[in-house]
Amino acid sequence: MSEALETSQELSEVLEDLRRHLLWQEEDGGRVLQVDARLAAELRGAGLRPQAVLRAQAAAKPAQAPAPAPAPAAKPPPPAVAQTPPAARPAPVPRATPQEPVRPLAAREPEMLLDVPSQVRPYTGPLPGSVDGERPTLDEIRRELGDCRRCKLCSGRKNIVFGSGNPRAELVFVGEGPGADEDLQGVPFVGAAGQLLTKMIEAMGYRRDDVYICNVVKCRPPNNRNPEPDEVTACEPFLRAQLKAVQPKAIVALGKFAAQTLLRDSTPITRMRGNWREYEGIKLMPTFHPAYLLRQPAEKKKAWEDLQQVMKFFGKQPGQRG
Ligand code: URA
Repeated sequence: MSEALETSQELSEVLEDLRRHLLWQEEDGGRVLQVDARLAAELRGAGLRPQAVLRAQAAAKPAQAPAPAPAPAAKPPPPAVAQTPPAARPAPVPRATPQEPVRPLAAREPEMLLDVPSQVRPYTGPLPGSVDGERPTLDEIRRELGDCRRCKLCSGRKNIVFGSGNPRAELVFVGEGPGADEDLQGVPFVGAAGQLLTKMIEAMGYRRDDVYICNVVKCRPPNNRNPEPDEVTACEPFLRAQLKAVQPKAIVALGKFAAQTLLRDSTPITRMRGNWREYEGIKLMPTFHPAYLLRQPAEKKKAWEDLQQVMKFFGKQPGQRG
């Protein structure tokens, strides 16, 4: 390849990275730049080149759902211990302090970093259903999760919030992570956002018990902050195993965090929502998180349009049961 061509390709890659940064920044009032700086530091700490990882991620096809913990860098990964950033080491100290402002759940969406989780592998053991073709049961997965200490969220939680609903549901809702009410009760989506979600489910013609509801992370992040990449890495295999157990016909990803984690796609939720995607051969509809809808009620109309597409897929009319 000629030098001029190489330089022009490099330039367009840099511009693509910049474009992605600006999109995120636009959506989140600039917080993403701070986050990207942290990401870059973490990647360098893990011996990886941030641009190479971002480029590998941008080149990956979103519809291809990868294995739970792919290694994006071309070189062979160093041992797990060397890859683990400080936040994922054993016996971690929670970073949050009581002085930190409490942010509502939906305010945390844009900080999700998709490529860091693949750099750390705090959990490498087998999961039920990790053998090809095997369908685990939710009970087996819950037993494997045990009194989980795989990430630092365990130190602040009251209860693990595994999931609830029909273990053979045709429709699964995936949220971000438990809030205070869910942490207290050990049940997902029971607080204010959960009450709205229940109404949305019922408006679709289901009872809450007809569907299955779970989250990307099973323990409450302190002060409702965003789950951190190492926490997602630790918990995501359990989410994937849950989806393998339930084998729904469709998934609704609530908010950008769930959509981006499952799809490995950093597209803003404002652009992702309302368009069918695919996760491991299952139809996936990204839509707004109910906590966001509580803050932005005008957006409910769009979320309802998204859910209507799901209803159409199942041949359901509003309010029609069964
Ligand atoms: N928000 C979530 O993402 N999950 C819950 O379980 C509750 C609120």
